[in-house]
Amino acid sequence: MKKIHLAYFSPSGTTEKIVRGIADGIKDVFPNSPVEMIDLLNPKTRKDRHIFGSDELVVFGCMTAQKLFTLSDEMFASLEGHDTPMIGIVSYGNGFYGIALKELLKRATERGFLVAAAGAFPAQHSISSTIGPGRPDASDMETIRAFGRKAAEKIGSGDLNLHTQLQTNWSHVDEFNKIIAMRESQPDAPYVLPESYKTKEISDACIQCGICANYCPTEAIDVSRKSFDLNKCIGCWGCINRCPRHAIRSTSREMADIMTSFGSAFAEPLKPETFF
Ligand SMILES: Cc1cc2nc3c(=O)[nH]c(=O)nc-3n(C[C@H](O)[C@H](O)[C@H](O)COP(=O)(O)O)c2cc1C
Repeated sequence: MKKIHLAYFSPSGTTEKIVRGIADGIKDVFPNSPVEMIDLLNPKTRKDRHIFGSDELVVFGCMTAQKLFTLSDEMFASLEGHDTPMIGIVSYGNGFYGIALKELLKRATERGFLVAAAGAFPAQHSISSTIGPGRPDASDMETIRAFGRKAAEKIGSGDLNLHTQLQTNWSHVDEFNKIIAMRESQPDAPYVLPESYKTKEISDACIQCGICANYCPTEAIDVSRKSFDLNKCIGCWGCINRCPRHAIRSTSREMADIMTSFGSAFAEPLKPETFF
């Protein structure tokens, strides 16, 4: 394998951790292949074109928000495969991943990739640290590494076909299944979080270090004014989770209410799912 590329969209860092764990497993099989990072959180990286050949391997990872995410158009437009093997995964907050894996497969295939293995990995929910707390944990990381190894062995043997059909992932809760059904019937409808779900404030603990702005995928934060442009903000929670001083907090009543019902419905820890 000429090169292994890790392309990931990971506002709060769990998807990146999973993708790196997969790379550890791949390196068990291809120890001499160099690894390159493509951080799709960075707007400039998403504008660049990344072109891959059939002798390279791309690991693509994205957080789930019912579907992949608001920026999936932009992300996939920047990636161009030429019969390039891909391992595609989504992370999700121990609830449901809906159509995210199906969407990943469709988009990756349209962009010239051959998805040979896929996975959905429960992680700590970016909006509530009490849902899936601490995940992916050590046991998840072992599973993730083993998945990477098995996928690399499969690809190394020349088998680039996905033999399992990826399905919509339903939850056990009617309220949430309605949302998933809507996504399933309109997979191309944009995912837009209403502004009232994105309101937040910065406290006096802020020292204007700029870390939040560095991790903002849409350049929505004005650090000098300690303000947010909610038209640009996509509500990924990266700024809130990355702030070393915990100075940013959500002020959305609607989001707090949803998360209360989400937390009680999805308290049971879910298991990673892998597809070959
Ligand atoms: C706006 C938003 C919507 C989300 N929707 C879902 C969801 O539908 N189901 C779920 O299980 N987790 C959901 N999550 C949780 C994230 O998918 C999960 O925490 C993910 O692992 C975050 O990845 P990251 O740490 O790489 O940012 C959502 C998170 C955000 C911010």
